[in-house]
Amino acid sequence: MAEPEPPPGGAEGRTLWHGRFAEGPAEALLAFTASLGFDQRLAGDDLAGSRAHVRMLGAVGVLGGDEVAAVLGALDQVEAELGAGAFVFAPTDEDIHTAIERRVTELAGAAGAKLHTGRSRNDQVVTALRHFVRREGAAVRDAVLDLQAVLVARAGEAGTEAYLPGYTHLQRAQPVLLGHHLLAHFWAFTRDVARLDDALARADVSPLGAGALAGSSLPLDPDATATALGFSRRFENSLDAVADRDFVAELCFACTVVMVHLSRLGEEVVLWTSEEFGFLRLADEYATGSSMLPQKKNPDIAELARGKTGRVIGNLTGLLAMLKGLPLAYNRDLQEDKEPLFDTLDTTRLALRAVTGMMATAEFRVDVMRAAADAPASSATDLAEWLVARGTPFREAHAIVGSLVRQSLDRAVPLAELVMTDPHLGPDALGVLEPGQAVVRRRTPGGAGPEPFGPQLAAARAWLAGRPAPPTD
Ligand code: ARG
Repeated sequence: MAEPEPPPGGAEGRTLWHGRFAEGPAEALLAFTASLGFDQRLAGDDLAGSRAHVRMLGAVGVLGGDEVAAVLGALDQVEAELGAGAFVFAPTDEDIHTAIERRVTELAGAAGAKLHTGRSRNDQVVTALRHFVRREGAAVRDAVLDLQAVLVARAGEAGTEAYLPGYTHLQRAQPVLLGHHLLAHFWAFTRDVARLDDALARADVSPLGAGALAGSSLPLDPDATATALGFSRRFENSLDAVADRDFVAELCFACTVVMVHLSRLGEEVVLWTSEEFGFLRLADEYATGSSMLPQKKNPDIAELARGKTGRVIGNLTGLLAMLKGLPLAYNRDLQEDKEPLFDTLDTTRLALRAVTGMMATAEFRVDVMRAAADAPASSATDLAEWLVARGTPFREAHAIVGSLVRQSLDRAVPLAELVMTDPHLGPDALGVLEPGQAVVRRRTPGGAGPEPFGPQLAAARAWLAGRPAPPTD
């Protein structure tokens, strides 16, 4: 059978769909619709999908053994060319999938032209993307675990002696152990790991075999390709298989919450490294200087963890907005799934790596923390609870101590002096104001004092140790 006439520009200017078209694509069309600039990073995943597909075609008898071998050989060659940076892209290669198929056809001739049998780019791209997500999503999860290991190690070092003011409304509230504070961040990240694992479990479905939207008249075996690609299962519905990008949205959301957690931790680092707080000193390698002010040491990692969170929130929002109006099944809009996903994964991983290094090397200024936490007003609740233990109703006790704190501030008299002479409190209550006492009294399981800290640290270590080994691809 004769080849259809190539469009003007010769074979080079041919698109995959040239048969139906008398004219080649306008430059403006290619410039606007091409995704090659960003989807090249799916090359390895696309090759894996093509290998699985062509082997399956051989196994079901659609391709002969020689043809399968020829296509596999061409795919190896493409992989080598891509790896060596020797792969030559054509102006009509609108995405990496097109580019690879074009080259396979150049290399393997008629057999190469059979690679796409029973397959559409619609199932091909989403297969590559799910394959990519399993690996890259797991890498983010592992980076979260690295940060958690640092937080647990630093909490362990801080032990039961280091404490600082705990804050509500950014006002000093009650002293808390430094280790307890660090583990608060650790537990937030345990939820991120669970969310990432959960998103990855739902991404673990092979859409290959769904074709453009309806499957094929050829005897395809999507279970075989699912297994060959290491997916746990195949799609249940071909329309859903090519239209579904929930897994992209879920992974972006899980990463966005990681970033929100890094941003909140970052905000504390910004505060703590300020002269006003003085609780933290960053290692030189994890701080930056000012081009003008010689004395400055800036917490840029913490600030950018905060700042880049805005970007990933934007990525997630844009992605959801792109999805919301799409009818079944594939629509070209879906090509817009990749940039937000790639940027979110990259940003989250880089942020995790930098924050992990920053937290591993920062110096906690325990003396400054302690001095701030030992301000007598931090013990106000304990004075009230001292009264409660002796039968005073809490609301009354609260009023008594509140009035003493107010007098102490108004008259510039030390709180201890007022406690000493107060008819409800007196000298027996003074012990409550001793430095370091307030934190020791926080005995509630899961609370901020030294007594519950041991079990909490053990639980955090057990959680880390109990993580299953990351899946090997
Ligand atoms: N680059 C496109 C994407 O990522 C390829 C799919 C185009 N499919 C199609 N039927 N035109 O979604």
